[in-house]
Amino acid sequence: MSFSATFGLPGKWYKPVDVQRLHLLVGGPNAPVSDADGDGGHVVAEKLPKWSSRKAKTTWSLASRSVLLSAGVASSIRRRQMSKGGESSSEAAVPPAKKILVFGATGVIGKVITAALINAKAEFARIGIFTSEATFAGKAALIDAICEGGVDVIVGDVNNDAQVLNAYQAFDTVVSAVGRNAIDKQMNLIRLAESSSTITRFIPSEYGTDIEYNASSAEERPHQKKLQVRAYIWSSVSRMRYTYLVTGPFADMYMGPMAHEPRAGTFDVVNRKATLLGDGTGKISLTTMADVGRLLIAVLLHPEASDNRALKVSSYTTTPNEILAEFERQTGSKWDVSYTPLGDLRGLENNAWQEGSPVATVFTLRRIWTEGSTLYEKTDNAALGMAKMDTLEMSVQETIWKAHG
Ligand SMILES: NC(=O)c1ccc[n+]([C@@H]2O[C@H](COP(=O)([O-])OP(=O)(O)OC[C@H]3O[C@@H](n4cnc5c(N)ncnc54)[C@H](OP(=O)(O)O)[C@@H]3O)[C@@H](O)[C@H]2O)c1
Repeated sequence: MSFSATFGLPGKWYKPVDVQRLHLLVGGPNAPVSDADGDGGHVVAEKLPKWSSRKAKTTWSLASRSVLLSAGVASSIRRRQMSKGGESSSEAAVPPAKKILVFGATGVIGKVITAALINAKAEFARIGIFTSEATFAGKAALIDAICEGGVDVIVGDVNNDAQVLNAYQAFDTVVSAVGRNAIDKQMNLIRLAESSSTITRFIPSEYGTDIEYNASSAEERPHQKKLQVRAYIWSSVSRMRYTYLVTGPFADMYMGPMAHEPRAGTFDVVNRKATLLGDGTGKISLTTMADVGRLLIAVLLHPEASDNRALKVSSYTTTPNEILAEFERQTGSKWDVSYTPLGDLRGLENNAWQEGSPVATVFTLRRIWTEGSTLYEKTDNAALGMAKMDTLEMSVQETIWKAHG
C-alpha cells in the first residue's frame, strides 16, 4: 500500500517522515481497508468514489458578504418559519443520523463533541472528521487520539468544493463546530450538503447565545454571521434537516479566570478574587461543555425532537452571587469581590468596539447574558431525553481542580 497515494486527497503527497503517523491513522501498514461501517480509525479518501467533477455553482454570494443582518431580514426569517408551519416541518419519515462527519473537531467545543461521539460510537455506523492540513500537522497527538477512537480522519480544505463533496459521500449527517472566524464558510458547506445525494441533516456551529432571543438580537454584532447562516438555511435549504443547539454560555468559561480583562467578569481561584457582573443577583443559565457533548448526541438520537428547530438547553440556572458562594464553600475561604454593574459593562463594551479591541465580542456577549437573555420558562432538555445534567457544584469543583493544575 502506498500511503502517499492512498492517503492523499488529489495533489496531496506525504513525505516518508509522515508514514509513521499515517500507519497509526490507517491502523498499521497492513491494515485492511474495510468497507464495513464503524470500523477502526482510518482515512476515508481511499474508499470514496472518484472525485466529482461538478463545479461550484456560480450563483453563490452570501458567503463573502459581511453586512449586518437587518431586523427586517430577521423578521422575514420568522415569517418563513411560520409559513413552514412553525419550527417543526418534518412530515416525511425522519431518517436516522448514522454516519456523522464533524467540521471543527479539534476546536474548543469540537474536541468535546468528538469525544462524546466516540463515547457513543455504538449508536453510529461511522464517525469522521474533516480537518485542515495545518491542524493535521499541528495537533498530531489530538488527531491520533481521535483516530484511535475509531474515527475516520479526512484532511482537506473547507474551501475546496470537490474535497468537501467527496467527503460527504461517506456520511449522512454533518455536525459543524467551526470557530467564529469560519461561521460564514458554513453557508458553502450547507449549499454543498443540500446538493449532495447523501447528507440529510446539517447541524451548524451555534452552541451559544440565542441569536433570536428578542427583537434586539438582530442588531447584536457577534450574532451577524450566525444569523446569515440561519437566513441562508431558510432561503436555500428544502431537502435537508437542521438543528440549532442553543446552549447559552459554557459554564466552564463563564466561571474561569478572565486575567486580561477582569471587568468582563472573573472567578480567580488562585487569588480568591471575583468580579461579578451586574449586581450579582441576576439569573443566568449555563451549560457545561461536557453537557454540550451529551446534548449533541441526544440531538442526533432524537431527530423527532430536534429536526428543523432551535433547541434551547442548559445545565442549570444560577446567579453570580450563588457561583461565588459555591467557590467560597468549596475553597473554605472568603473571596475579594468587586462588581461590574450593567451600565459600566455597556460603557466598556462601547469603548472596546470603538477601539477595535478583540475583547469587544466578549463584552457584548456578557452584557447580553447579564441582561437575562439566557433565560427561558422551559428548556428542551426533557424533549431530548436529558434527565440528568451537570450541576453548579460540579462546575465549581472542576474549575478549582483546573486552577490547581
Ligand atoms: N457558549 C459559549 O460560551 C461558547 C464559547 C466558545 C465558543 N462557542 C461557540 O462554539 C462554536 C465553536 O467555537 P470554538 O471556539 O470551539 O472554535 P475554535 O476552537 O475557534 O475553532 C474550531 C475549528 O474551526 C475550524 N476553523 C477555524 N477557523 C477556520 C477558518 N478560517 N477556516 C476553516 N476552518 C476554520 C478549525 O478546524 P480544523 O482545525 O479542523 O480545520 C478549528 O479547529 C462557535 O459557534 C462559537 O460561537 C460558544
